[in-house]
Amino acid sequence: MKLHHIIKAQQFNRSKLANLFTMAHEMKEVVQKGGSDILSQKVMATVFYEPSTRTRLSFESAMQKLGGEVISTENAREFSSAAKGETLEDTIRVIESYSDVIILRHYESGAAEKAAKVARVPIINAGDGSGQHPTQALLDLYTIKEELGKIDGISIAMVGDLANGRTVRSLSYLLAKYKNIKIYFVAPKVTRIKSDIKDYLKRHHTFFTEESNLKKIAPIVDIIYQTRIQKERFGKRVKDYKEACGKYIIDKSILKLMKKDAIIMHPLPRVDDIKKEVDSDPRAAYFRQAQNGLYIRMALLKLILIG
Ligand code: CP
Repeated sequence: MKLHHIIKAQQFNRSKLANLFTMAHEMKEVVQKGGSDILSQKVMATVFYEPSTRTRLSFESAMQKLGGEVISTENAREFSSAAKGETLEDTIRVIESYSDVIILRHYESGAAEKAAKVARVPIINAGDGSGQHPTQALLDLYTIKEELGKIDGISIAMVGDLANGRTVRSLSYLLAKYKNIKIYFVAPKVTRIKSDIKDYLKRHHTFFTEESNLKKIAPIVDIIYQTRIQKERFGKRVKDYKEACGKYIIDKSILKLMKKDAIIMHPLPRVDDIKKEVDSDPRAAYFRQAQNGLYIRMALLKLILIG
């Protein structure tokens, strides 16, 4: 299975996902054995116009653990020639001469697709504004499979900033490929899930409902997928931001309501949306989830650069 551009979650089918997860499992063993050199001679460029800890560093670690090289601009908005007015397309046309794959995070929805149209090397969308974050959704789905042993039949509460949360959007697209999924969207009024996702789920016969009471939903789901209210996406809408903040916080009182074998996920970073008191509970899966990002991204790089 050779992959090329990774722009949106919908491009994966169940068979590709199964192959990817098998490969990610193998990559975990590669890491435990000290790495590999299968990507020696290959160069990966990370081009990030927005801040990142997990996505950029896990991609860079993934490349290095497979023997490849990394070139990077971590604050491209300020420190690349974008600051001098260079277009994204021109930037990509230049960076492709120096690299075999480009990992792009951008503040505009649709930027990765725009880059892919001019690129001769594969582009991986590492988050485009409020659009999508497909590799996060892949590691999220892998985490669900690893933690719960299955994906078909799971019920999930997606909580928080569902209007701006690109991870929630990408994960919804992926979950719609599985059977008997139940999605509960729990959000403040100003950050409710957008209609394009609801329309997609309807078209794919995936059950979803919108709820406001997390305490009612917590006892019946297998996963609480918490997300941060993304202050940076509100601009001048300070009143809306304040209205959305602090409505849904995962703390010990929510833990008490949850099933014994349920899990809590979060794409991270968290701010005050999950209390630190939750971290020691075995159901807190968010740091294991972040670690899975390394294995999934190693698998993706192998599938893109070798097949
Ligand atoms: N989950 C995620 O995308 O984290 P970063 O913003 O730190 O990359």
